[in-house]
Amino acid sequence: MELLEYAKSVAQKVDSFIVSTIDGKPRELYEAALHYIRAGGKRLRPLMTVLAARMAGGYEDVAIPAAAAIEVLHTFTLIHDDIIDRDEFRRGVPTVHRLWGIDTAIVAGDVLYAYAYRCLLRAVDFGVEHSRIVKAVEYLTEGAIRVAEGQMLDMLFSRREVVSVDEYIEMVERKTSALFIAAVSMGAILGGGDERLISKLREAMRLAGIAFQIKDDILGLVGDEKTLGKPVLSDLREGKRTILVIYALQRLNDERRDRLLRVLGNSQASIEELRKAAEIIMSTGAVEYADKLAREYAERARHIIESIECRDPDAKSMLLELIDYLVKRRF
Ligand code: IPE
Ligand code: IPE
Ligand code: MG
Ligand code: MG
Repeated sequence: MELLEYAKSVAQKVDSFIVSTIDGKPRELYEAALHYIRAGGKRLRPLMTVLAARMAGGYEDVAIPAAAAIEVLHTFTLIHDDIIDRDEFRRGVPTVHRLWGIDTAIVAGDVLYAYAYRCLLRAVDFGVEHSRIVKAVEYLTEGAIRVAEGQMLDMLFSRREVVSVDEYIEMVERKTSALFIAAVSMGAILGGGDERLISKLREAMRLAGIAFQIKDDILGLVGDEKTLGKPVLSDLREGKRTILVIYALQRLNDERRDRLLRVLGNSQASIEELRKAAEIIMSTGAVEYADKLAREYAERARHIIESIECRDPDAKSMLLELIDYLVKRRF
């Protein structure tokens, strides 16, 4: 089956599962909590969950509760991330904290965090062995802990001048790869997969997550705001040590380096100053470097997936295609 078509059908199942599970009062809380779900989004993580379940020999439907869970957890992290990053748009709509205020956005995130578990626990209705559900809960928990660690590192790095590429990779393994890893781990365990399959999928998604975040950093500098649905240049205003910034800081002469550092993390910087800073970064070849690095990580991920012997070659080839898409995407 064609990936895009399949992605749409999974997204539909996941969305209807989510909206039927997440409902209650007060209305404002649920409106805020479901705002990003209604606005769009790629639904990549649920697709990973379902493909992993199929690769393990399971049926797609068995993985839908876990697929919903990972998307709900992801949505929670986005709401809080937008507060932290002071961003005004996401998925082409105003951010939750802009519409409802920071206090409501915090609680909307909190409630989604709990609903992620409620979604996952509904795997019980699909007759999945309880010991497998317990493992899936553990994977979700591990993912949530890792994302928090990654987000903290991301914030700590913004206050530092120098961050190494290795430190960056460690941060990204947590803030981004962790949910990719949780997505496939839950899918594979619920689909009946064994240790060997799960560990290969996890390693592949660790690499794929790094590739994906590097691409996200690139799009955050040179992407088209309308296509992306979220702001560009805000990483610079917030002083984020993206892979591009790290690379540029290592290569600039003192004068240009100082110029860049004056803009990084400066909330007062004008749009012209931000654009100039972006130009300085680009002049070092940082975008070409990052693009190549992202492709290398994606290639390593593909290599591992190719080595997996599985019962559903269609699911495997879609996962390979998905990895390709992670680094080729424009939004
Ligand atoms: C955004 O993830 C957060 C990052 C880890 C960079 P996505 O790019 O998957 O966001 P949506 O779900 O499609 O909006
Ligand atoms: C991505 O954060 C990770 C999480 C949301 C947990 P970023 O801040 O790098 O991603 P965007 O660009 O806002 O989506
Ligand atoms: Mg952000
Ligand atoms: Mg962030």
